Amino acid sequence: MTRFPKNFLWGGAIAANQAEGAYLEDGKGLAISDLLTEGFLTEPDQAVDPAKYYPSHEAIDFYHRYKEDLQYMEEMGFKAFRTSISWARIFPTGEEADPNEKGLQYYDDLFAEMLKRGMEPVVTLSHYETPYALTEKYNGWESRELIGLFEKYCRTVFERYKDKVSYWMTFNEINNMHTIPFAAGAVILDESDENEKLRVIYQASHNMFVASARVNKLCHEIMPEAQIGCMLSLSAVYPNTCKPEDIFGAMSLRRRSLFFSDVMLRGKYPSYANRIFEEYGIQLEMEDTDLAEIAAYPSDYLGFSYYRSTTYKDGMKILGNTGGIIGEKNPYLDETPWGWQIDPLGLRYVCNELYDRYQKPLFIVENGMGNNDEVTADNKIHDDYRIDYTKKHLVEIAEALKDGVPIMGYTYWGPIDIVSAGTGEMKKRYGFVYVDKDNAGNGTLRRLKKDSFHWYQQVIATNGESL
Ligand code: BG6
Repeated sequence: MTRFPKNFLWGGAIAANQAEGAYLEDGKGLAISDLLTEGFLTEPDQAVDPAKYYPSHEAIDFYHRYKEDLQYMEEMGFKAFRTSISWARIFPTGEEADPNEKGLQYYDDLFAEMLKRGMEPVVTLSHYETPYALTEKYNGWESRELIGLFEKYCRTVFERYKDKVSYWMTFNEINNMHTIPFAAGAVILDESDENEKLRVIYQASHNMFVASARVNKLCHEIMPEAQIGCMLSLSAVYPNTCKPEDIFGAMSLRRRSLFFSDVMLRGKYPSYANRIFEEYGIQLEMEDTDLAEIAAYPSDYLGFSYYRSTTYKDGMKILGNTGGIIGEKNPYLDETPWGWQIDPLGLRYVCNELYDRYQKPLFIVENGMGNNDEVTADNKIHDDYRIDYTKKHLVEIAEALKDGVPIMGYTYWGPIDIVSAGTGEMKKRYGFVYVDKDNAGNGTLRRLKKDSFHWYQQVIATNGESL
């Protein structure tokens, strides 16, 4: 019995800032991600300090090695490859009158290479890499100025790549506005004032919703056949126990994430939003046409990442999003060395939860296991743990498909080792392909196939029947 649809988009996903390197090459401007020394858990520096190590500056040198890297992906049989365009390669400060031709040419070549190798490019327009100049000048998305600047950038890339790219996404993990606002919304916050902090987060989110609506419209005008989705971090949230307060709290916490997809997919602010705004004294600045635009141009599909599940325990403050460990450890689950609890059934649960809520196609654009890998004397990497993790999640995706959930595809996160967004480390490896580089930046950058490479190749070759 065939469990996966014939046109299922099997593949992998990376982000420009975690893979490309070449951080100032060919006219690229400084992106906010270029100022992060230890990854996204710390706020960005205000300028590059020559005495410090910044992982994104070289990353895995995908900028120069993408042909070799895509060859590995082709060998695994990828039907799709997700990456982002670094906005600062196209408009180095975000405000130039004309785009940077060298940056445009790079993505032209990259997408052409993907197509040549049988992969659909799946492109994120903003993956934590807003030009830093826009943070300095406007505090990022707190300002409406960014709406027009983002529209201009998107129009430029839509027109340029309209014959190459059919799958787009606006903002990576937009709900991470709560936990990593400097990455998700390019805003720096005053941590000492909670109400003000939330005001800025929701104002920036509102501006991003308007931008997303306009860009969705633009995308359909320029590419009538293309699809453009929103993208959220939607790892599962459970109540810690059957105590009613745990259950209600888990729902409230979940809403802090679903708030974003509620607006972007349903085209309106959800009924519970006013209560949140009242609680924190938030008054959003809007223009008259904002809500009509949001209603008229919703996202076509919901792209999301799923890595783990988390619990809500009564008494915990509900402020953040739902992508991390928040409550007590779930005693029924194992975890990765980074403490991410492994929950394949949670993925089936989330697929059902999201389709029940939105009735729009889902695209699992991130899932995978970050782990330490060891290279043996004969240059092998025996990563059975990664095979086991991925296999169990794919089996649950097959179950979700049987449940009737339309899932467009699965792009495994980091099919080649890249810099971790959360910690800036190289040793938190996700790849089916190993990259010889350590946390301090030492290594030859040599690529090696892991055992999981051959396993995933088999999965795709059999359209999932080998699982
Ligand atoms: C998602 C991000 O949050 O998770 C990626 O979209 C990130 O950019 C991925 O790399 C895995 O997180 P980490 O911290 O292990 O790199």
